Amino acid sequence: LLVLSEDSSLATNAYQLTIDTTSVKIHAADVAGIHNALVSLWQIATNDLQKVACLTIKDSPRFEWRGQHLDTARQFFSMAEIKNFINNMSLYKLNKFHWHFVDDEAWRVEIKACPELTAKLSERGYNQLLDPQYGSAAPANGGYYSQAQMREIVNYAKARNIEVIPEIDIPGHCFALMKLYPELNEAADASVYRSVQGYANNCLNPALPETYEFLEKVLSEIAVIFPSDYLHIGADERPEGTWENSPAVSTLMQQQGFDTTEQVQTYFLRNVQQILKKLGKKTAAWEEASEQGEIEKDGYVISWKGTQAGINALKKGYQVVMAPAQHCYFDIAQSNAWDEPGQTWINDYVPLRKVYEYNPLSQALDPSVYKNLKGVQGCLWGENLYDKSLVQHLLFPRIIALSEIAWTEHAQQNYAQFERDLKQLHQPTLERLKINYCKLSF
Ligand code: ACM
Repeated sequence: LLVLSEDSSLATNAYQLTIDTTSVKIHAADVAGIHNALVSLWQIATNDLQKVACLTIKDSPRFEWRGQHLDTARQFFSMAEIKNFINNMSLYKLNKFHWHFVDDEAWRVEIKACPELTAKLSERGYNQLLDPQYGSAAPANGGYYSQAQMREIVNYAKARNIEVIPEIDIPGHCFALMKLYPELNEAADASVYRSVQGYANNCLNPALPETYEFLEKVLSEIAVIFPSDYLHIGADERPEGTWENSPAVSTLMQQQGFDTTEQVQTYFLRNVQQILKKLGKKTAAWEEASEQGEIEKDGYVISWKGTQAGINALKKGYQVVMAPAQHCYFDIAQSNAWDEPGQTWINDYVPLRKVYEYNPLSQALDPSVYKNLKGVQGCLWGENLYDKSLVQHLLFPRIIALSEIAWTEHAQQNYAQFERDLKQLHQPTLERLKINYCKLSF
């Protein structure tokens, strides 16, 4: 017998789960709480139903924001692969899916006002506008998400207590876009710069009206597909030297009294923020938007190069999601073994323990400051994901440790106990679900 009861004294996402000899009772204030209770019931019952003990669990998440990001620009993920990814997030009670789907190497979202975006930029290959990259072979290959498919993913995620936050990464990371649209390039711009990934001339120009005309078209369609309050606009990794020899930007700087291109970036981001406001959206961005950009504080910023930018942003009054690469970038390799897949740009690796022992509140911040810490997020960039079996290898078991950080107060965490749980509870489940987890930590 399964009994669900509403208990409005509980917080959102919280639940009480009681198993006795004749029934399972769940108390929660909302559907999110019921969802979390049912996942716990699944976790308990899934291994050996005969051995389920009578128990009571009272549980509530440590953080409101328990996110996982996926880069589907560098590699295309099929609908089935995205759903599988979301399913795996929900099995560990993560609740925010950050969907990164445009970048230097591809554009993967259908925009009805600009059909050429997906016609030309969703596949890479020999004799295509975009060259083969990151393991995509000579024959044209890739893909994109139609608006109907994106809505399907939003609903699929919602049924699993997950909100989808879309990212359109600007003004940097726009190499593909600039290649397609000559009007977004200022012919007389003689700036010489390269992104850290090696792309020349990959930034939108904040002084051209065409830039905003294009962005209005794209963002107004994205805004209605995704019901999230937030729309993420990237703002990361604008290369040094950008716009320095752009006549249009020089004129803009004179008109506005700007001395630096950082001020131009702020101007750009604030213009985009105004577009989003009219569309009823709050602006989310990577940490740079709270530093060089200093956009208004209606949305949130993600600290990714480390924790310092997030701490600085909290002190300035931003809402912050912590995703420091040293603990939360799951595309970084898990050990220094020669055959371990993953990135190494942080000059370190991210073993399970580094995820588990990350405490976003460890900086002895004043409570008035850390009340703006929304939570934590894992990130999975796609450069290395030339073989999709690597996705689960990179995510598991690190995503389980991320869930622990997001749910359990630091004082109650214990790595030795976590390792025992991993072997006794999680490993049999991962085996049964045929998840290709990394075995280093077992
Ligand atoms: C990032 O990793 N460029 C946000």
